[in-house]
Amino acid sequence: NVYNIRKIRADTKVYGLIGKPVGQSKRPILHNAAFKSVGFNAVYVPLLVDDLANFLSAYCSPDFAGFSCTLPYKETAVTCCDEIDPIAKSIGAINTIIRRPADGKLVGYNTDYIGAISAIEDGIRGSWAKDAVVSPLAGKLFVVIGAGGAGKALAYGATEKGARVAIANRTYERARELANLIGGHALTLAELERFHPKEGMILANTTSVGMRPNVNDTPVSKQALRSYAVVFDAVYTPKVIRLLREAKESGAAVVSGVEMFIRQAMRQFELFTGLAAPEGLMRNITSSL
Ligand code: ATR
Repeated sequence: NVYNIRKIRADTKVYGLIGKPVGQSKRPILHNAAFKSVGFNAVYVPLLVDDLANFLSAYCSPDFAGFSCTLPYKETAVTCCDEIDPIAKSIGAINTIIRRPADGKLVGYNTDYIGAISAIEDGIRGSWAKDAVVSPLAGKLFVVIGAGGAGKALAYGATEKGARVAIANRTYERARELANLIGGHALTLAELERFHPKEGMILANTTSVGMRPNVNDTPVSKQALRSYAVVFDAVYTPKVIRLLREAKESGAAVVSGVEMFIRQAMRQFELFTGLAAPEGLMRNITSSL
């Protein structure tokens, strides 16, 4: 039912989810339903891969038209593609691979960053300037918690949009490395608690703190949240974590990781198919999963 196996023909395009593990992923349900709804002759299957470089060189037949790439391969995959989109290259992580029809080369993209940044931009427009033409992040102070793959994507994305970026991380050294790379400011988590340079700042949590089952944890106290006008969290299980609940209580606009998930999946669908993503269907499916 999910894969439509009976409808696979010689000209059916095959897409795969590369990761380890992959069994829990909702992406096959989402992408197969989306392909079907727009009449795109393709199937999307989970691929449990042990060695990414070996898989892409030995088993990746031209029948594969593209892949999603998830943990733990988002960073390794950069070195396994023939070409990398320039922003994904700066971030150092990809989550989408397309086989370019013209020459069969594998090209890597990062749709996580587009999904997160566009969700936050709309969250800001909603609360501040609905008619903004330039990015509403321009000139704002944008604080990222976490310096892993997701933290890097957000820090690069916000810098690209003209924000001034500060990175707070449990391991200060990693925050400093990332800050040096993007020309930002590094903080410890203790410093983040006392960080109130200006009202109206934006906060983006990219750590797993607060994720199921540790739903009572939060990366920053409610007290320290008062300086932020917009708070985003990349976690989507549960859909609203403690950080977002407390941010809302202190009057901030909140943007959930569910919004990022939907948007990165829509962009991925567009790269796969060259067609507009069926947004309503993808939102309905995501909310029912
Ligand atoms: P991802 O690619 O999803 O960003 P990652 O590269 O493993 O995942 O990075 C996880 C981030 O969450 C890191 O910034 C990590 O902090 P460290 O650099 O100190 O490891 C942060 N993180 C994870 N668990 C945390 C916790 N319990 N408290 C604070 N930070 C945490």
